[in-house]
Amino acid sequence: KRSMPLFGKTVMVTAGPTYEAIDPVRFIGNHSSGKMGFALADELTRLGADVTLIAGPTAQKSTQMLKRIDVVSAQDMFNACSSVFPNTDITVMCAAVADYRPKVVATQKIKKQDSDLVLELEKTTDILASLGTAKKAHQILVGFALETNDEENYAKGKLEKKNLDLVVLNSLNDKGAGFKSDTNKITIFNKALERTVFEMKSKTDVAKDICAAILKIAK
Ligand code: C5P
Repeated sequence: KRSMPLFGKTVMVTAGPTYEAIDPVRFIGNHSSGKMGFALADELTRLGADVTLIAGPTAQKSTQMLKRIDVVSAQDMFNACSSVFPNTDITVMCAAVADYRPKVVATQKIKKQDSDLVLELEKTTDILASLGTAKKAHQILVGFALETNDEENYAKGKLEKKNLDLVVLNSLNDKGAGFKSDTNKITIFNKALERTVFEMKSKTDVAKDICAAILKIAK
């Protein structure tokens, strides 16, 4: 029991980027590698949880036996999260979800023209915010924040606006933190807006710190 403190808990983790189609061969994406989310899903599984990992396009492989749902776009991820979330005790949203997508997806490859091309973008659904609205009292919801400026204030704002229990801030200002790297440097804020600052660590060890923070508030 001590080594499996999350036994009997159902957990959902999102990881990786989303790809938003422009036409059949092009998309808008981002540099998320999925490493942090996969490390978290693996660690939560090790702690005994029944984990469903919802992954955008990524080369990552899980080392643990867990359920994995592969998705491509923000809308796909929203659909998967919406169906899994009601039955989860703990949800950690680590994915770098696109905020905008092409308003019209061309059915055929867009041809090169002499003139410039204007792409109109529309907003995607903020998955985390929508889960925050649907959240029941027994559910724990953890979000990530990646900022380049005024990071602490944005992180705290996100915690309140999206009705989160914890927010994990990783700064692009720290060398060796973020996207592709194997290490990360995080600060965790809880609902009381108390701040815990961590050293730069491997994403595997960062996952352990995040899980410890979750265990502290787990019901
Ligand atoms: O507001 P911002 O996008 O910076 O918040 C980041 C957090 O929200 C991350 O946990 C991310 O996984 C989540 N998110 C989401 N759906 C979106 C955008 C962000 O779940 N469309």
